[in-house]
Amino acid sequence: MASTEDKPTNKTEASSWKDSFYNPRTGEVLGRTAGSWALILLFYLVFYCFLAGMFALTMWVMLLTLDENIPRYRDRVPFPGLVVLPNSLDITFSKSDPLNYAPYVESLENFLQKGYNDTEQEKYLDCLEGQYFLQDDALEKKVCRFRRGYLSLCSGLSDINFGYSEGRPCVLLKLNRIIGLKPLGDPYVNCTVKKDNPVQMQYFPRKGRIDKMYFPYYGKKAHVNYVQPLVAVKLLLNKEDYNKELSVECRVEGSNLRNNDERDKFLGRVTFRVKVVE
Ligand SMILES: *[C@@H]1O[C@H](CO)[C@@H](O)[C@H](O)[C@H]1NC(C)=O
Ligand SMILES: *[C@@H]1O[C@H](CO)[C@@H](O)[C@H](O)[C@H]1NC(C)=O
Repeated sequence: MASTEDKPTNKTEASSWKDSFYNPRTGEVLGRTAGSWALILLFYLVFYCFLAGMFALTMWVMLLTLDENIPRYRDRVPFPGLVVLPNSLDITFSKSDPLNYAPYVESLENFLQKGYNDTEQEKYLDCLEGQYFLQDDALEKKVCRFRRGYLSLCSGLSDINFGYSEGRPCVLLKLNRIIGLKPLGDPYVNCTVKKDNPVQMQYFPRKGRIDKMYFPYYGKKAHVNYVQPLVAVKLLLNKEDYNKELSVECRVEGSNLRNNDERDKFLGRVTFRVKVVE
C-alpha cells in the first residue's frame, strides 16, 4: 500500500533532484551559475596558494636560523655511552680452535682496518697531548691521529690473533660520539672482573687513557674523518679462569663523564661476559 502512495512523490523528488544538479532553465549547476562557480574556485585557488606560501616562508626562515652542525635544542651536552668490541656482550670461545674465535678476531681486524689504517692516519695531525683540540675557524675540521700501533699487543699488528689464541683476549672500548663534548679531568678506562682473586689487565694506550686531544667532536658534516680514541684491554687470564663465565665491567673514570646511571647501564660503562674454554 505504501508503495503505491509513494510513486508520485518519488517522481517529483527525482525530477527536483535532477534540477538541483543541473537546471536547464536557469543554466545553474548545483544551484550556482558557471560564473559563480568560477569565482569560488578562484577564491579557493588563491586561498590555498596563500597558505602554501605562508608555510614555505616560515619553513625557510626557520631553516635559515639552524646550524647544520649543531643540534639546536639541547639543554646540556649529554654523556656518552661506552661500547665494547667485538660487538658482543657474551664473548665465548675455545682458545685451541682458531675457527671458533675467528669471528671475534675478524671483527676486530675489520674495525681497525677500516678506521685506523696507518696509511689513512698519516694524513691526520699529531695533536697536543692532554689538551682539547679546539677549532673555531675552519669549515672542515682537522683530525687528530690515532695510530693502530698505540694499541700495542691489542693492535692486531704484533699478534694477529689479538690474544685469543693464547686465551688472553683483547677487547676494544670506545665512547659514543657526542658533538661538543669536552670531558673534564683525565678520563681513563678501568675494567674489573667480579671475582675473589682479581684478574690482571693490560691497558693500551698506557693506563687506559682517553686523551683530550680527540675532543670536541664537531659532527659528521664538519669533522668528516674524525677518529675516535680507543682503549684496548687485554685480559690476562690464567688456567684457573678458564671454563668459567667471567663478568667484566669497564667504566670511564677520572672525569666528569657519568658512569653510574641507575637507568642507563651503558652510560660511561659496559658489562660483558667472557668465557674461555681450553
Ligand atoms: C690501508 O688502506 C689502503 C686503502 O684504503 C690499503 O691500500 C692499505 O693496504 C691499507 N693498509 C693497511 C696497513 O691495512
Ligand atoms: C678500578 O676500579 C676498581 C673497582 O672499582 C678500583 O678498586 C680500582 O682502584 C680502580 N682502578 C683505578 C686505576 O682507578
